[in-house]
Amino acid sequence: MNDYFENIPRASILNLPTPISKLTRLSDYLGGPTIYLKRDDLTGLGLGGNKTRKLEYLIGEAMAQGCDAIIMHGDVQSNCCRQAAAAAAATGLRCHLALSGEIPVVAEGNLLLDYIFGAEIHWCGDYTNGELVPDIAAEVREKGLKPYIIPYGGSNSTGVLGFATAILEIRDQLELCGAKLDYIVTPSSSGGTHAGIMLGNDLCSLGARIMGIGIDNDHSGEYEKYMAMIANDAAERIGYFRRYSAADFEMDYSYLGEGHGVISPLEKEAMHLTGKYEGILLDPVYNGKAMGALIDMIRKGRFSKNETVLLWHTGGIQAVFTRSGEIQIKG
Ligand SMILES: Cc1ncc(COP(=O)(O)O)c(C=O)c1O
Repeated sequence: MNDYFENIPRASILNLPTPISKLTRLSDYLGGPTIYLKRDDLTGLGLGGNKTRKLEYLIGEAMAQGCDAIIMHGDVQSNCCRQAAAAAAATGLRCHLALSGEIPVVAEGNLLLDYIFGAEIHWCGDYTNGELVPDIAAEVREKGLKPYIIPYGGSNSTGVLGFATAILEIRDQLELCGAKLDYIVTPSSSGGTHAGIMLGNDLCSLGARIMGIGIDNDHSGEYEKYMAMIANDAAERIGYFRRYSAADFEMDYSYLGEGHGVISPLEKEAMHLTGKYEGILLDPVYNGKAMGALIDMIRKGRFSKNETVLLWHTGGIQAVFTRSGEIQIKG
């Protein structure tokens, strides 16, 4: 399987392998299946997270194309932008971030880190979908630099490769502990993580069922189509035969609650239990929701005790601090 990735440029920015934690105390408390947590909150660079795996290939591509700057857009508290800023700093590229909204009075969380990692921030007000990126690219070119534009959430066929190779890492880790996965559960939002896990699962013949927990509003099938497209593009690029359709992507949108980033009792309980029984921090937006979904499914008897579920911890814990007033966990 390594051969598939041999000629694809990569930037050396990750601290791998990330550990797999066995959540024995949480599983005992819930009377649930064996639960593993893939610790991509510990990918290393710039306080870690799943996007650094995509950036390994995206920054690699940027450098291979002779680019000396990256541009990407996102929310003011974007985890992906923060990791891109750190990756650019580590590889000597300039980083321009097009962030939605207006400059806040105090820079905190990911924004604070963007500044510390030396990113140049372009405030985009109501232009939340990267509308101003072409203008920023033109400005960067005028300064004599060659920009590389990172797609939203790092989710294109290049970013997908980072997660396909992550499954190779997991396969080796599972071999060492003699475990076989029945399910992989992942928060799913811009699609690259989920699509890459699907591709890697097939490439490694892992045989796990992949379940995406929806973080954003139901896109009426468009999201699944997008994941199939980027997984197919990635498969074609590495010369792997498998092709996907939207129906191959299992998404559960029933835990959306009031929408993206709205913190409900589901996320709070998941953060509380994982913290209390395992000493592990989850963020309230992505992993709090995915763990909350897993806990709910366990309580509904969806998994048997002899099954094994791996939840992908994708990082993002800065939000614990920027949204502490809403989390208010006691006891
Ligand atoms: C912490 C965290 N987890 C999960 C995701 C979702 O990953 P993807 O966008 O690849 O679906 C994101 C994306 O923004 C994220 O920041």
